[in-house]
Amino acid sequence: MAADTPDVAAAASDHIPVLLDEVLKTLIPPEADLHGAKFVDATFGRGGHSRALLARLPGDARLLVIDRDPDAIAVAQQLAQKDLRVSVCHARFSELAATLAQQDFAGVQGILLDLGVSSPQLDEGARGFSFRHDGPLDMRMDSSSGETAAQWLNHAEEREIVEVLRNYGEERFAGRIARAIVRARPLTTTQALADTVAQAVPQRGPVKKHPATQTFQAVRVHVNQEFSELEVGLAAAFELLAEGGRLAVISFHSLEDRVVKHTFRSWTRPPAMPRRVPLRHTQMTTAATDIAGPIRAGALELKHNPRARSATLRVIEKKAQHG
Ligand SMILES: C[S@@+](CC[C@H](N)C(=O)[O-])C[C@H]1O[C@@H](n2cnc3c(N)ncnc32)[C@H](O)[C@@H]1O
Repeated sequence: MAADTPDVAAAASDHIPVLLDEVLKTLIPPEADLHGAKFVDATFGRGGHSRALLARLPGDARLLVIDRDPDAIAVAQQLAQKDLRVSVCHARFSELAATLAQQDFAGVQGILLDLGVSSPQLDEGARGFSFRHDGPLDMRMDSSSGETAAQWLNHAEEREIVEVLRNYGEERFAGRIARAIVRARPLTTTQALADTVAQAVPQRGPVKKHPATQTFQAVRVHVNQEFSELEVGLAAAFELLAEGGRLAVISFHSLEDRVVKHTFRSWTRPPAMPRRVPLRHTQMTTAATDIAGPIRAGALELKHNPRARSATLRVIEKKAQHG
């Protein structure tokens, strides 16, 4: 363990898990026989959801925890030393199928994806995710590989930056911001990016949000390839579920939630058919059933954890396939 790795007890207070009761109630079917059950937490973070799940699972159940962030994995390894039901893998969603095969983890009862970034990732200036803390412009969830935000922004073409800001940040002033970034290069710190954006956009009345909020979201999504990770991860997770197994996903912005909603619908709703096709609704089979969602945090949770304000939980259950 690195000298500055948070220990497992401190880690529990570093990140408050969102929608925790709702996840537990919907991911574990009521009266399910959990003996020998296998669960996957594919976004371990600091393990808030994992620990609560472990408290509900019997001694012969197993929990595989995954994260692409080496700091999260260091905390997960400490948990695995204390709880023999836990196995740990440093991997991405796009490696889910291979990871589970390697761990001999077939027929999973429940999989959780709690998307986005953890509080330690946001709060540690050195990770470069936030305009609130100055630090190197990094933003990689996996700090051990890939291109940093600074590396990408300092060589990307202006039109590529515009596309990223529009597609992943829904930023109205994408053109102006991209032009300002290109002029200000090289950018090396989060503060420099935040100032560049703030100077490029017009003042919009009483300021509710920092003007760089959408830019930081978009660049982070691009650097971590979050949408392709999510699409591949959802498909792999569904494939890996046992019949009757459940997939719970918490998203943190509308673009992310749209991907989850449409993917879930493709499994829970019959495909649209021309009217004259002589099929009854009940004859059209679907792969899954809606269990819950969209679920949002209630007033009490928001009071204790403002980060939950943008969280949306959706849960589906895989149906038995006949024939
Ligand atoms: C919101 S945090 C999870 C917090 C966790 N549920 C808890 O209670 O501590 C999201 C975590 O997912 C990880 N993550 C995001 N995208 C990932 C991906 N594509 N593959 C693996 N891990 C990912 C991030 O590194 C981060 O640690």
